[in-house]
Amino acid sequence: MDNSQPITQNSQLTTHNSQPPTRILVIGSGGREHAIGWKFAEDFKKKNQELELFFIPGNAGTAQLGQNISLKSLEEIRDFAKEEKIDLTFVGPEDELSRGIVDMFKEAGMEIFGPDQKAAQLEASKAFAKDFMQKNGVKTARYKTFQGPMLAIEYLESQEFPIVVKASGLAAGKGVIICQNFEEAKKAVLEIMEDKTFGEAGSEVVIEEYLEGFEASILSFFNGKEIVPFVSAKDHKKIGEGEVGLNTGGMGVLAPNPSFKREHFDAFETDILQPTLKGLLEENLLFSGVIFFGLMITTKGVYLLEYNLRMGDPETQATLPLLENDLYEIVKKSNRGEHFKLEFSNQQACCVVMVSGGYPLNYEKGFEIRGLENVQSPYFIAGAQLSDGKVLTSGGRVVNVVGIGGTMEVAREIAYENVKRIHFDYEYYRNDIGLD
Ligand code: AMP
Ligand code: GLY
Repeated sequence: MDNSQPITQNSQLTTHNSQPPTRILVIGSGGREHAIGWKFAEDFKKKNQELELFFIPGNAGTAQLGQNISLKSLEEIRDFAKEEKIDLTFVGPEDELSRGIVDMFKEAGMEIFGPDQKAAQLEASKAFAKDFMQKNGVKTARYKTFQGPMLAIEYLESQEFPIVVKASGLAAGKGVIICQNFEEAKKAVLEIMEDKTFGEAGSEVVIEEYLEGFEASILSFFNGKEIVPFVSAKDHKKIGEGEVGLNTGGMGVLAPNPSFKREHFDAFETDILQPTLKGLLEENLLFSGVIFFGLMITTKGVYLLEYNLRMGDPETQATLPLLENDLYEIVKKSNRGEHFKLEFSNQQACCVVMVSGGYPLNYEKGFEIRGLENVQSPYFIAGAQLSDGKVLTSGGRVVNVVGIGGTMEVAREIAYENVKRIHFDYEYYRNDIGLD
């Protein structure tokens, strides 16, 4: 994989065969979706085949790779895919998956990569996921689920602290509150269940044992028979250097995760991957798509915090550039339930996320991003839109810059060298990604 920036608009891929272009639709609007599109484009360039990419809704980065389409309802998306004779749809975000986009496409006889609505509950309902883990012997924190605040608070009276209170439903990564004492935990339960801070996601709460350790993310592809893991990744969730301050959607990623050693992988395989696979097969939760394991590595072993049934953001931006396989071929194999291996280069990736000053609280948008043309490593637009030929910030997380090198030190240097070539008003990024 070369380290050049994403291919530019209309860089028509010359073809030396008469096959019609492959048409791929990517759903989503972030850095993850830009990275998925970029990987498809790189692979097709390499094999000298024609590709047409569509993104719903996409962003200023995906507009360089293909066509951005603005459609809202799942029905409209399905009809678009049908009319445009899309060969494969790849779903980025959890929302469409949990609303059943895969079921809808399959009913219409169209090819899509992702879990059906039933399996998507492994992410969309923490209560469902924890019950699945417990039933199938997947190593996870002790927990209890409640449908109302009274019993939850009564339960808290007999617990040790810290403890973790979670809204069961989808809350855009915000529904988890770590509580140091009874008062904090009671407040969290009331905020989630009575004030409905996270809306309907809080009609059920999971109260969970607090685990101390370091985290690792492992993405994998599931073909309905086997789970094939990616290289590990390390997310940096906090806004401040030294991992302090408010939680964000991710300020940087390292892949592989430098702290995640062979013995951790072995424990993950035995205590988490294998029992998960057994459970999926036994409970008939069969699909072709992504399983993302959110892990906590403690002195008592490797624990599963959560499943996501989609690619991680920003984990995708750091891991896909290391994937040596042709992504389209792998997804097609997975959809057919065929065996495949994933090969990763032994390079290291360091992804630095540039955000709008003020994020994750209030921030302004609409500032021009300058200097992208000087970037000499892969970069992925997370929150920017094209307007009159200019690229304007449109979100909290704005650009993801990925350095790739033989060591993490080199990868980190390349990432920051290129971050410094990009400018927008009130830009902010952490300077310590890859230092540990
Ligand atoms: P989740 O959405 O369940 O992955 O939780 C979001 C974040 O909260 C995780 O990435 C951890 O940093 C933290 N977290 C979740 N569950 C626990 C736990 N049982 N113990 C300690 N930290 C946790
Ligand atoms: N980076 C964590 C996630 O995608 O949920």
